[in-house]
Parts: sequence; structure tokens; C-alpha cells
Amino acid sequence: MSNNLFLAGDLHVGKSTLIDKVIDNLTFFHISGFRTSRYFKNKRLEGFYIEDIRQGSKEQKNIFIGRCINENHWVSIPSTFDDYGVKILEDCLKGNPDLIVMDELGFFESNAIRFQDMVLNILDSDTPVLGVLKLKETPFLNTIRNRKDVRVFAITQENRDAMFSVIIDKIENVICRNREKKQVSIDALDFEKTVNEVFAPVYPIIAKQIKNRTQITDGICLDVGSGTGHLGIEMAKVTNLEVYLLDKSKDMLSLAEQNIARSCMENRLNTVLGDVYCIPMGDNTVDLVISRGSLFFWEDREKAFKEINRVLAPGGMAYVGGGFGTYRLKKKIDIEMQKRDSHWRKNMVKKVDSTNIDYHELLKALDISDIQVINNEANMWVILRKGMKENSAAAHQKTLNL
Ligand SMILES: C[S@@+](CC[C@H](N)C(=O)[O-])C[C@H]1O[C@@H](n2cnc3c(N)ncnc32)[C@H](O)[C@@H]1O
Repeated sequence: MSNNLFLAGDLHVGKSTLIDKVIDNLTFFHISGFRTSRYFKNKRLEGFYIEDIRQGSKEQKNIFIGRCINENHWVSIPSTFDDYGVKILEDCLKGNPDLIVMDELGFFESNAIRFQDMVLNILDSDTPVLGVLKLKETPFLNTIRNRKDVRVFAITQENRDAMFSVIIDKIENVICRNREKKQVSIDALDFEKTVNEVFAPVYPIIAKQIKNRTQITDGICLDVGSGTGHLGIEMAKVTNLEVYLLDKSKDMLSLAEQNIARSCMENRLNTVLGDVYCIPMGDNTVDLVISRGSLFFWEDREKAFKEINRVLAPGGMAYVGGGFGTYRLKKKIDIEMQKRDSHWRKNMVKKVDSTNIDYHELLKALDISDIQVINNEANMWVILRKGMKENSAAAHQKTLNL
């Protein structure tokens, strides 16, 4: 079966529009790639540029792939393909995407050998490609057309609407087959789907609450039981923290890696496979530990908090628990989740009950200078500050019932 689908057809027939429509409809998949676009000055077409579909570009002139030097006389700029184009494709691969878009492959890259090699490597890989292929004969374009793993669809004004469902079906099939091969479990995929459809609004709110309450905006942050990474990613957005997403599930982290790539903050986010009972980080190294929704799974909470406190730097803080941000959001999510799962409310009550313990008693042996417990209708958080070692006096015993 062909992994790589290309659209071909006359100018302005709607190939790129069709690709954009497909991307818009594949909401739950991680898509990266490039597009080439026209650059106009005073309504005159001056050139074509290439850009990353995730980021766009403001400096189009620096990334021209072809320039009009005289009326109808065009020169190609292979170096843009070989430098910037190759970099886009390398970054795409690093993000482990479900699909790479190449809109379009034409004749400007006829002398861009590094770029051509990179395109062919991607076509050889397991990651499927959806692209546009120019209706021209060049050795490079012919090589692509003649590959066994490439299927070219002819797009016309008449068939373009009908082709949408054909293309999207084929792409979804290939992506799902690939995900099965990558062995991302259905549980992790289901979790991510529910997060995207229902829980997504809670993460930016909780990240701001954590920032406001802890005032920690620099240094190292560890998100324990990060799942697919949404809270840690939001934390990186509102602070300068370097964030480590730790989870014991490889599948969760594999989806977290896709979310990191989508956030375009790869330089400040990392995944760590590990267990809260044995965090693979040194003593006193972390400025802020955050953890949402994982505490309910920790059978030995004393051991978990001991380990969290071990990695915290003196004076560092932990913000551990679960929540929905605001009561309004909680109510909305509760209604939606109960519709999806008739056991949801019953299970929530069980979960919340399980956290109803005396944290001051639980943590009394640890070097903690301050413990606060927030327990209201929308959230349950244990917020603690590690002592300064020489100042390991008993924790400030204060429970906030907000
Ligand atoms: C309900 S999910 C919450 C995910 C994420 N924090 C969120 O709010 O979207 C709980 C996560 O905790 C992880 N987890 C459970 N027990 C753990 C342990 N002992 N060590 C590390 N991660 C754990 C699970 O794999 C899962 O990803």
C-alpha cells in the first residue's frame, strides 16, 4: 500500500486548498511539513518562498526559492532548499509526526541535491507524506512519480470536493496503521483525545495559578505524571522554566513528544521516562515540581513525596494534586464527562476521597518549611516548600479551605 500521496493538477485548481482542508480535519494528529507560497510586491509576483507549516514566516524574502528577475524570467535559489528546506524537514522528523506535508515539489529544487536527498529519505521512512507534485518533467519529479510507495491523484475542478473524503480516508488509514506499529496504546490515545476534546482549557488556567502562587518562573520544573504533557507545556509558555515531563508510561511520553514539537518550544521541554518512587534526577536539582491528576495513582504517597522532596532544591516548591482550574470549568467538564462515561461521577468521588488525608502528618518527617492544602470544589492541591536544610523546623501547619 502507498504510504505517500501526492496531488497533481493544473494551476489554481485547488490542490493546496484541499491539503489545508485535510490538515484542518486531522485535528488529533501531529502534522508538520512545508509549504511554498507566492510573494507579491505592489501586486506584482516577485518570488516564491518556502516556510514551515507550523510556524509560518515573517521574513519571506530571506527564504525565496525562486525569484522573478525579468518579466517571466525566473531563477531558482537551491541554497534555500539545501539549508532552510532541509532544516524544516529535519525538525519535522525530530518531532515524530503522524504526517509530513510537502506542498509543493516542483522544478526550483532541481539543483538542490541535499534537499532532494532529504525528501527521498522521508519517502523511504514510515512517516507518510501528503504533497503536491508539479505537472512538469524533471529527473527529480519523475523519480518521485515512479516510486512504488507513491500514489499520485489527479485533481480537477470537477473532482476536488469528492477527492477530499478519498484522501482523508487513505491518510487516516496509513496514520492509524503507523501508530499501531509504533505501539502507542489505545489508552494513551484515548486519554489524549479526551484531553483535547474536553480538558484542554484547564491547563493554561492551572499553569497561571501555579505561577501566581509559587512565583517561580526560572530554573528547572519537573511535571510528575505528566501524561501527554499539557500542563508542563503551558507552564513553559508562561515562565522561563526548563520543563521536564516525567511519566512511567512510554506511550504517554511518545504523545507528549508530539505535543512538544507542536508547541515549538523543543529547547525548553524534555521527556523523562521514570517513576515518582525513583525519580531519575539528582538531589536538590529542581526548583518547582508540578503534578496534576497523578497523585490518585500513587499507592505509597509518603514515598512519592519523599522522592519529590529529595529532588527539590532548598526553598524549591511542589504543587501536587488535581483540579479543573475554576468551578465553572469543573461543572462544564463534569457534565460532558458524565455523558461520555456513566461511571465518571462515582469514580471522581472515590478519587477525591482518596486524597482526603492529613498531609501534615504524612509529610512530618520531611524537611519542609511550609505546607498548604487547597481543597475546594474545583481543586485539591498540596503546596509545599522545601526547607533550607539548616532551617528544617516543623512545617507551617496551615490548611486552606478556599
Ligand atoms: C490522569 S493522568 C494525568 C496526566 C497529566 N498530568 C494531565 O493532567 O493531563 C495520570 C498520569 O500519571 C502517570 N502515573 C501514574 N503513576 C505514576 C508513577 N508512579 N510514576 C510516574 N507517573 C505515573 C500515568 O502514567 C498518567 O500519565
